Amino acid sequence: MQLTMIGTGYVGLVTGTCFAEFGHHVTCVDKDKSKIEQLCKGAIPIYEPGLDTLVAKNVREGRLQFTSNLEEAVAEAEAIFLAVGTPTSRRGDGYADLTYIYQASKEIAPHLKGYTVIIDKSTVPTGTASQVERIIKENNPTADFDVASNPEFLREGAAIADFMRPDRVVIGVETERAEETLRSIYQPLFLQETPIVKTDIKTAELTKYAANAFLAAKISFINEIALLCDTIGADVIALAKGIGMDGRIGSKFLHPGPGYGGSCFPKDTLALMRIAQEHGQNLRIVEATVEVNAAQKAKMVKKIRDAVGGSEAGKTIAVLGLTFKPETDDMRESSAVTILPALLEKGAKIKAHDPFGMEEAKKVMPPGIIYTENAYEACTDADAVILMTEWNQYRALDLNRLAGLMRNHVFIDLRNVYTPKTVKAAGFQYIGVGRS
Ligand code: UDX
Repeated sequence: MQLTMIGTGYVGLVTGTCFAEFGHHVTCVDKDKSKIEQLCKGAIPIYEPGLDTLVAKNVREGRLQFTSNLEEAVAEAEAIFLAVGTPTSRRGDGYADLTYIYQASKEIAPHLKGYTVIIDKSTVPTGTASQVERIIKENNPTADFDVASNPEFLREGAAIADFMRPDRVVIGVETERAEETLRSIYQPLFLQETPIVKTDIKTAELTKYAANAFLAAKISFINEIALLCDTIGADVIALAKGIGMDGRIGSKFLHPGPGYGGSCFPKDTLALMRIAQEHGQNLRIVEATVEVNAAQKAKMVKKIRDAVGGSEAGKTIAVLGLTFKPETDDMRESSAVTILPALLEKGAKIKAHDPFGMEEAKKVMPPGIIYTENAYEACTDADAVILMTEWNQYRALDLNRLAGLMRNHVFIDLRNVYTPKTVKAAGFQYIGVGRS
C-alpha cells in the first residue's frame, strides 16, 4: 500500500520505517527541511536501537522516502498517518496542545486525491478525530475520506520490537472502508496472530490514555510500597515477586525507582485528568498517581541528603545515568532533571555520566554539572554514587575499583540494580529503593 506519515518525530519515524519493513511504500513528510535533508543522507535524528539499519535497508530497497513536499505525498497516499507532536499545552494546565494536529489536517486537506483514510497516530484527547474531520471538510468539501484512530504503544528503546510484535493493535474506525484499510495495513501482523481490537474512534483515543495511566499507577503504587518497605525494613523486590506472580497483577511495571519520566506518562496522565475534568469527573487514582510521582522525586532528594550525612553542601556526588530510562537519549521529564538541580542548589558538586544522554542533558540541565567520559571518572574522589538510570553499562561495575577511586563509600541505587550484599562486600554502604 501507499502510506504517508506526517511528522518524522519519534513515533512517525519508527512507525513509517516499520510499515516500510512490512512491505508498504511509505513517504515520511516533515516541515523541518534540515531534518528531511539529514534523513535523506541517512542520518537519524534520534537514538533508537536498530532504527538506523532499518531506515537504510528500506530506503535502499525503495520502500521508504523522506520529503518536505506535502502535496505530492498526500495526493498519492491511500492512508495518511498524523504523527505530529501533542505536547502538554504551554498554558501549563495539562491539556494536550493540538495545534500541530489541526495545522496538519488543514494542510493536507486540499491535496487529497481519491479515497483516503486519515489516521491519528499521535496521542490525542477524545473528540480530536471529529475535529480533524471537520477541518478537512471545511478545507476540501468534496474530499472522499474517513478518519480513524490507531494509537501507538511503543516503548522508547524497544520501539522496533514493540512494533513488530505488539501485544495488540487498537483500531478506532467507524466505516467499513476505513476498517478494511487499517486491516490491510496491519495484514503482515495477522501471520503471527496479533489481536486487532476494533473500537469506535473515541474509545480508541481513550484506550491509549487509559493504558498509560494504568501503567503509571502501577509504578506509583510500587514506589509508595517501596517507601514503606524502607521505613519498616522490608524487601520490595521480594514483595514485588510475591504479588506479581498473581496473574491478575502481573510482574511487569513493578520496579520501584526515582519516579517515572519520559515523553508519555507525565504528559498523558495530566491530559487524561483534564479530559475527565472537562466532563465533570475527577479521576482520583490518576490524580494520586501524578502526586505520588512528584513526591517520589522529592523523597529521592531526601534519601540522597540523608545518605551523605544530612547535607549535600561540599559533597561530591557521582551520577550514573541521566536519561529517563536506558537505551534512549531522551531527557524529557527524566527524574534527573528534578533531582540534580535540587542537589546543586544545596551546594553539591555533581559529576555525571550517561552513555547516550549527555548532549541532551547539557541542553536541559543547569550549568555546573561536570560531565565525564565514563562511570569510573565520575566516581573519582566522590563521596557518594547514585545509580540513576539502569543502563547495561552500569550493571556490572567493578565495585572494588570504584571503592578505590571514591573518597567515601556510599552507593545509592535508585533502580535496585545491585544486590545489597554484593555492594556491601566491596566496602560500601548500600541504599536502594525499598530495600537495604
Ligand atoms: C511508555 C509506554 O510503555 C508505551 O506503551 C507508551 O506508548 C509510551 O510510554 P516509554 O515512555 O518509552 O513508554 O517508557 P517505559 O519503558 O514505559 O518507561 C516509562 C517510565 O517509567 C521510565 O521513566 C521508567 O524508568 C519508569 N518505570 C517503568 C519504572 O520506574 N518502573 C517500572 O516498573 C517501569
